[in-house]
Amino acid sequence: MPKPEVKLHYKNVMADVIGDEHGITPAQLKDLAERTAPLIQQLNKERQGGETPYRDLPYNSQIAQEVRELVEELGDQCENLVVFGIGGSALGNIALQTALNPYMHNLDDKQRTGPRLFVFDNIDPPQLVSFLDWLGDKLDKTIFNAISKSGWTAETAAQFMIVHRLLLDKLGPADCKKQIITTTDANQGILRRIANNAGFRSLVIPEGIGGRFSVLSAVGLFSAAMCGIDIDSLLEGARDMDTRVKCEDFYKNPAAINAAINYHFYNRGKRIAVMMPYSYHLKDLADWYRQLWAESLGKKEDLTGNEVHIGPTPVKALGTTDQHSQVQLYREGPNDKLFTFLQVRNFDKDIKIGPAPDCASELGFLAGKDLSELLNNEKKATEYALLESERPCLTVLFDRVNAYTVGQFIYLFEVTTSFAGTLFSINPYDQPAVVLGKDATFALMGKHSDEYEKWAKEIRSLTEIDGKFLV
Ligand code: PA5
Repeated sequence: MPKPEVKLHYKNVMADVIGDEHGITPAQLKDLAERTAPLIQQLNKERQGGETPYRDLPYNSQIAQEVRELVEELGDQCENLVVFGIGGSALGNIALQTALNPYMHNLDDKQRTGPRLFVFDNIDPPQLVSFLDWLGDKLDKTIFNAISKSGWTAETAAQFMIVHRLLLDKLGPADCKKQIITTTDANQGILRRIANNAGFRSLVIPEGIGGRFSVLSAVGLFSAAMCGIDIDSLLEGARDMDTRVKCEDFYKNPAAINAAINYHFYNRGKRIAVMMPYSYHLKDLADWYRQLWAESLGKKEDLTGNEVHIGPTPVKALGTTDQHSQVQLYREGPNDKLFTFLQVRNFDKDIKIGPAPDCASELGFLAGKDLSELLNNEKKATEYALLESERPCLTVLFDRVNAYTVGQFIYLFEVTTSFAGTLFSINPYDQPAVVLGKDATFALMGKHSDEYEKWAKEIRSLTEIDGKFLV
């Protein structure tokens, strides 16, 4: 049986579908191919030179082995797995869980093959208090995985400190140690120091891999494997996509085409990139993509230091939910968006629509049909409506949703991001603007240094709520 695939369909961005004013003509596509083809070689060289270590994660058998060993060691004692992390240290975990485990994973013991999973990627006090109340005396059956690449993120540090105190109080130092696992840099950062001092079990995030490119490292693999996700298939999917995205023929390379089309439309004023999955399971992959795209491509300076303030704005929407919320704007508002639908060809589980009640024979057209048929036809109907309004639409087609295809999707979009960064002439791997906010938080929270104290005063005076303007 052929392996299920993830493919990019780009016919509906072309001018013969949506017209010359908004579509890509064959001549424009040829120009894009000529411009992008050398970049494929460039990225392949950079990868060989070790400049993009995330590209090699799917081949890193050591990480997968360490994760498997730890999962085996924790075995059945773990009923709840709690992940503390934010941004790239959480969004991939959430996306994998939503994509690959049943909707009722946390609530239904019969549908679950591992622990319940709770990913806290925020520091909302009532949320955490409610959770800890529920957790009550189940602390000894709960593993807390604190994930931070830098080891210095205030949110993750605070979550860790709250739970560490609780575990020490309730279980004592020896047992507290059994419940905590850290995932962080091998040598640097405060979380590494804490883990080494306390002797926590620890997984390593390899050097040179930013959070948003780290889902295929221990960051995403550990919670996935704990919760029964087939990480070998996930990595195999990524490897198989790798052979496609390093292909030097532009027309056969889905990452190069995807990036080139996104770049082209950005330069024609379509600066918003909407990703709209027609599958509940794929919805958090759109969230993961949103961070990947925004943090990687939103940059002030290009590679030569010119001020460019560049970057498409990624937006996530969900079909069919957002048809009833966003599509009015998408069709009749400004033609400033490129749409990327995610469509599933075969759903693993389906359900038939029941018969129409006698008094509602007009609903007979739905009766007896698969619910997936309605969902996929809704996607086609929305796409058609957008095309009628000359809006460009891409579709990423999943033969089915499983670990193998999700691995392909992740790798496809990571490499698309690298291509887009190269086309925009910016560095897609840093995030200086996020770092500034992190440091400002340290200053406001009273981290000591003369510079921080001065800075905190300045920030407070700018952000203080001013009664004169309060209505
Ligand atoms: O992609 C990134 O680099 C960021 O989103 C980080 O993942 C996020 O800020 C959390 O950082 P850290 O993992 O260092 O705690």
